[in-house]
Amino acid sequence: MENTLNHIRVGVENAVPFAGADEFEAAKSNAVKAYNELLNVSGAGNDFLGWLDLPSDISKNLIGEIEETAYYLRRKSDVIVVVGIGGSYLGSRAVIEALQDSFKFLHKKKRRYPMIVFAGQNISEDYHAELIDALDRLKYSVIVISKSGTTTEPAIAFRLLRANLIKKYGHEVAASRIVAVTDGSKGALKSLADKERYRTFVIPDDVGGRYSVLSPAGLLPIACAGFDIKQFIKGAEEMETALRGHDKPEDNPAMLYAATRNLLYQNGKAIEMLVSFNPSLAYFIEWWKQLFGESEGKENKGIFPAGAVYSTDLHSLGQFVQEGARNLFETFLWIEKPKKNLSVPMEKSNQDGLDYIAGKNLNYVNEKAMLGTIKAHKDGGVPCITISAPELREKYLGALMYFFEFSCAISAYMLGVNPFNQPGVEAYKKNMFNLLGK
Ligand code: PA5
Repeated sequence: MENTLNHIRVGVENAVPFAGADEFEAAKSNAVKAYNELLNVSGAGNDFLGWLDLPSDISKNLIGEIEETAYYLRRKSDVIVVVGIGGSYLGSRAVIEALQDSFKFLHKKKRRYPMIVFAGQNISEDYHAELIDALDRLKYSVIVISKSGTTTEPAIAFRLLRANLIKKYGHEVAASRIVAVTDGSKGALKSLADKERYRTFVIPDDVGGRYSVLSPAGLLPIACAGFDIKQFIKGAEEMETALRGHDKPEDNPAMLYAATRNLLYQNGKAIEMLVSFNPSLAYFIEWWKQLFGESEGKENKGIFPAGAVYSTDLHSLGQFVQEGARNLFETFLWIEKPKKNLSVPMEKSNQDGLDYIAGKNLNYVNEKAMLGTIKAHKDGGVPCITISAPELREKYLGALMYFFEFSCAISAYMLGVNPFNQPGVEAYKKNMFNLLGK
């Protein structure tokens, strides 16, 4: 079974046979219940549903302000540092890395837009010292993103970068090179931004970090990197309309995906690997891991989200997937059309024996690698779901991200957990603060 909506296709024909037909029917009717809970605003965490209409609700004014700020920062920067952790950086990083030239850093001369780098997503001394060292020689600006405005990791990075900016440019100019994205009324970052008169954008109260890629938290860095946020929003908005307008798993790919992954979970498959044959999607996989991991992993329940980039990881994790413990399933994320065109060259001597594919595009070979992998893994006892999108372009990434957010909310409701809280992330913080003597 498969379905396609707004160019996003979900296929479950290599997954559903791993369970009984009656179980699949039960999973589909649970998905319908969860869908109704979500759209009737009757489920757990229903005060955090602002993400549902972010694409259709965003005003032209806000888009204009984001684009204008991005233009302003780009003009004065070789590098823009995005400071944030979790949902406050993964969405924008996923989109930027998916869209940008993989070797942009080698094209110094013909680079039209500043490099976007990330900080505050760890507390590594080396990482931040090396970053500051590199920035010393460059013109740079900072976008600091924290919804709560109190998260330790970005707060440390921002303190370091702010001090460095002040040292480099003086207090006033430094302030003009900082943009804050935070809560509209509370938090330490909001107070500092007001005091220092930073340009500021708001993450709405009813939008959690991991659902915030279509808010200024995601949109501003994406616009700074030179990508078309209007197209990104358009793709998400079309997906929003489509998913909200189809209430059956037979015609709604998000419901079909949620139903299938829960069906597999009920059948002992507690780990899902999102795999892509495109290394540009490595951070998309990280974004997806956070979205599903933080939304579902609670009350001793949940599917553990893992990821891999194939065919690279077929030469490492591939052995485990083929023959290791049979507690996992895979979701293949396939992009149909590459951005570029490159084929295997013909070589008279054919010493490497590759002439049987000479003239074929690399994407053709890559697709055969994927199809071969799906068959092998399925035969080895690993259910495989497939999700595909036409191209790595803003519009389809917007559609894919909204699709996954919607699926995730339904899936968590099917599991019986609140998709929008994260009580478990407090435990490490409490211990860290104790150890630091806070
Ligand atoms: O999804 C979430 O809510 C979290 O991952 C947060 O985004 C993350 O903890 C960062 O929080 P904040 O933006 O408040 O600094």
